[in-house]
Amino acid sequence: MSETQKIVILDFGGQYTQLIARRVRECKVYSEVLPYHASAEQIRAIHPLGVILSGGPASVLAEDAPQCDPAVYTLGVPVLGICYGMQLTAHLLGGKVEAAKQREYGRIAVTMDDKATILKDMSDTSSNWMSHTYQVKVCPEGFHPIAHTENCPIAAMADDARHIYGVQFHPEVTHSDEGRTIISNFLHICGCAGDWTMAAYAQTAIARIRETVGEQGTVLLALSGGVDSSVAAALIYKAIGDRLTCVYVDHGFMRQGESEQVTEVFSKLFPVRFIPVDASKEFFADLEGVTDPEQKRKIIGRDFIRVFKREAEKLGKLDYFAQGTIYPDVIESGQATGAAVIKSHHNVGGLPKELGFTELIEPLRMLFKDEVRALGETLGLPHDLVWRQPFPGPGLAIRVMGAVDPEKVAIVRASDAILREEIKRAGLDGDIHQYFTVLTGVRSVGVMGDERTYDYTVALRAVTTDDFMTADWARIPYDVVRIISARIVNEVKHVNRVVLDVTTKPPASIEWE
Ligand code: XMP
Repeated sequence: MSETQKIVILDFGGQYTQLIARRVRECKVYSEVLPYHASAEQIRAIHPLGVILSGGPASVLAEDAPQCDPAVYTLGVPVLGICYGMQLTAHLLGGKVEAAKQREYGRIAVTMDDKATILKDMSDTSSNWMSHTYQVKVCPEGFHPIAHTENCPIAAMADDARHIYGVQFHPEVTHSDEGRTIISNFLHICGCAGDWTMAAYAQTAIARIRETVGEQGTVLLALSGGVDSSVAAALIYKAIGDRLTCVYVDHGFMRQGESEQVTEVFSKLFPVRFIPVDASKEFFADLEGVTDPEQKRKIIGRDFIRVFKREAEKLGKLDYFAQGTIYPDVIESGQATGAAVIKSHHNVGGLPKELGFTELIEPLRMLFKDEVRALGETLGLPHDLVWRQPFPGPGLAIRVMGAVDPEKVAIVRASDAILREEIKRAGLDGDIHQYFTVLTGVRSVGVMGDERTYDYTVALRAVTTDDFMTADWARIPYDVVRIISARIVNEVKHVNRVVLDVTTKPPASIEWE
């Protein structure tokens, strides 16, 4: 297989750096984010076809301004500077940057003056996202201005001979109408074929795992049943077969059918050494009478590590620990920008350290969530598993308000199954990003047949969201709500009332605990 074509993005701390990586990958070209101070040698070693310099909050005129290795400009590959990246290019190559008379922020009309290269196929004027206090006043030698705005005479610049470009605006954000054209033009100038696929990624990742683990090496993976760890398991299985051991700790708070599906998939479809551990008794015992949400989470996290450790010790020493860390975790934790922060995965806590592993395998650490799902499909994991909605590590235990016991968990599990079934039946599962039921601590009076009841209230929680940081409550059609409500009170014992949560995040969180 020919080597994967890559674009390197140097990160100057801009809030949109991840988006640049995404946009490049959407054009089917693999991209990697490196810290701004990566040396030209380091960059050359990974053979990129082009380099993009990101935006960033600093001023290039400040004494301690972050700078890239100036040799980046002589690597012999095209360079595109975005916002700070453009100003830095001007500054390092002999141009002049100064404070703008008027700060530009928001969607600004940009007029294209030269559409021969990076601005090819752009409209004469298009609306682009700007956020800058400084701007290029004089282009470096060899460059000429190729776009302007009302307040920014050099909104883009080009050196056609050396293939170095700069744009003051942000083509990577969706508020820039034709931003994708610029990214695509740059990739074209770099000579990228745009043929990067998940199948190709899978091949490279499998080869890399084989190379790391060797002919004899063994790997331990904590399978949570979530998308990331399942895709990681499938990938590693393809690389080393049953030298991969997966330990699946069932804490008793999984959704209906979930443990069975994971067991089925990893004993039949991907027959790894699969060790399911039913630890529900221990978890329930330790949570007895505990009502504080944080305390519940802490106990579950602690128990998880204890159970996993005990099982791992029974297995004897394995060589590597694998986990399903994904790219946003890497970028957000600062690892991609060179800061030495190791973020503990929320589902496996500090497991590798606890178990004495120093060798980690993280085959998804360069992928975004939707790419992980695409990879899962490519590898042949079941669609339902791959498209699972997010599920918190502590599971249904934090969807039972207050103290947890098996009966209450059974109620929330049964009502959740009905909700999921009906949302799917109504064809809404692609539109609502997360939906579940909550067993509220409330009991109320009802009437069933001729009997007075005094039973539990279940809440329906359904949200739409881009990033789970903010969310809106989903407008499930009332007819669907009616069916869900009727089925829950009819089919789930001890529930006589169903309510709908109509709160946004903020101020509420998505989960109730
Ligand atoms: P909140 O409730 O904070 O949830 O609005 C935001 C998203 O995070 C999920 N969540 C968790 N995920 N471990 C996880 O892996 C956890 O402890 C956890 N708590 C909340 C939640 O389901 C939602 O998608």
